[in-house]
Amino acid sequence: RKIAPNAQDIQARKGSVPLVSLTAYTTPMARLMDGHCDFVLVGDSVGMVLHGLSSTLGVTMEMMILHGQAVARGLDLSMLVIDMPFGSYEEGPAQAFRNAARLMAETGAGAVKLEGGVEMAETIRFLVKRGIAVMAHVGLTPQSVNTLGGYKVQGRDDQAQAVLADARAVADAGAFSVVLEKVPATLADRITAEVAIPTIGIGASAGCDGQILVVDDMLGFFTAFKPKFVKRYADLGPLAEAAIAEYAAEVRARSFPAAEHVFADQAPAKGAKA
Ligand code: KIV
Ligand code: NA
Repeated sequence: RKIAPNAQDIQARKGSVPLVSLTAYTTPMARLMDGHCDFVLVGDSVGMVLHGLSSTLGVTMEMMILHGQAVARGLDLSMLVIDMPFGSYEEGPAQAFRNAARLMAETGAGAVKLEGGVEMAETIRFLVKRGIAVMAHVGLTPQSVNTLGGYKVQGRDDQAQAVLADARAVADAGAFSVVLEKVPATLADRITAEVAIPTIGIGASAGCDGQILVVDDMLGFFTAFKPKFVKRYADLGPLAEAAIAEYAAEVRARSFPAAEHVFADQAPAKGAKA
């Protein structure tokens, strides 16, 4: 019988078959990816992708818990990882532990993810020592959009050492893996070679130990903008809109509902279809 991997299993995949992951925010989407992904992330991208927020800063613990519970109901074979939202961990290790423990207790996630490198190492060490598996996230950290001056590539030229130092710091602190977002491919390859934990790339390099994408981006449901690093594997947004337009036209023409969608006055005979 197959069971979902845990943080140790994920960590042990360093340098082996690439780790596959996507975000999910709902039960039906989680069911579609269950077993195809090694882990599924309930990302705080939910705020932008499903709630129409203009950044991830407005995402709350309550939003993460509701979506985390929904995703958990759809997964049997993939590990569940959940993002710590902005403001839930930056004050210090005790605050981080309290909120990480709540996220895990209320959703059943096997790990939390938080943004930050050197400055978060102490917090990561505190959590891991107390039983919480932590995935780190360095490079472009969207919760810091206001101090980074936008969603720019991180670690170019003389910034490379700082991103490498961040990845080293979170690995030393005990993180079981680290997301590298929007960093040059050569830097991602160098970090992958130099740190002992799996690197999960998004806008990074095919040489990373795994990849992640936002599911609504790769399916073409989220169309407000498309980062360069997103590959659209399907274009479902326009398909959905065409279906909605057809429905609207049929309702206005009274051609929907048709005979097969409405109910007869008398109950059908036993054995016949309802
Ligand atoms: O919130 C998110 O979707 C993420 C991934 C893109 C890594 O953090
Ligand atoms: Na995130």
